Amino acid sequence: MNRGRGSCLRARALAAMALGFSATGLPGCALLGEPEPTIITAGEAWTHLPDVPFVVSGEDAVGAMLELAGVGARDVVYDLGCGDGRIVIAAAARYGARGVGIDMDPYPLGMARAAALRAGVADRVRFIRGDLFEADLRGATVVTLYLSPEVNQRLLPKLLAELPAGARIVSHRFDMGKAWAPQKTVRRGDATIYLWTVP
Ligand SMILES: C[S@@+](CC[C@H](N)C(=O)[O-])C[C@H]1O[C@@H](n2cnc3c(N)ncnc32)[C@H](O)[C@@H]1O
Repeated sequence: MNRGRGSCLRARALAAMALGFSATGLPGCALLGEPEPTIITAGEAWTHLPDVPFVVSGEDAVGAMLELAGVGARDVVYDLGCGDGRIVIAAAARYGARGVGIDMDPYPLGMARAAALRAGVADRVRFIRGDLFEADLRGATVVTLYLSPEVNQRLLPKLLAELPAGARIVSHRFDMGKAWAPQKTVRRGDATIYLWTVP
């Protein structure tokens, strides 16, 4: 089924509003005032609205997440809800890691694939369109999140069931509430980053 860009933007705007974000604060929604050409999504219709809207982590947050997780060349970094792919691209470009980005929104995923090519890391990163709750996480040694408190806690059983012992989880802005206290918290600029290690 073909979906127009308008449908994608409306879905993101609805998700943003449902979560209390300002739709006009979303980078992608600057396009709302533009004409709406059709985007072909290879027959993949939206199965449900994204659990959180597309909002990017700033440069401070990206750097702090990768540092706090201690990312190195042997790591495989999964960003669940990867948006434009900036975290896994930075992990590959700066540390020689491999990366997998998963997002259900084809619009930022298109940007991610183009950015990986520009950064010269397309052979080290992979972007998958899909629901992060259905992804196979067993290959990850580092997981990065910028989601919401509720989504983090809903994801926690899956993280603990699928990630190997020693895998690091870093989350921008949102912790796991009472479900799991972070082992370390750092602040960099406006960003707060939380770290956990899978026992
Ligand atoms: C706040 S953005 C974070 C983007 C990126 N990780 C970053 O930090 O720059 C959250 C992303 O999660 C995606 N998302 C939300 N719910 C999802 C789900 N259930 N499965 C896959 N992606 C999802 C959204 O489309 C959005 O791109």
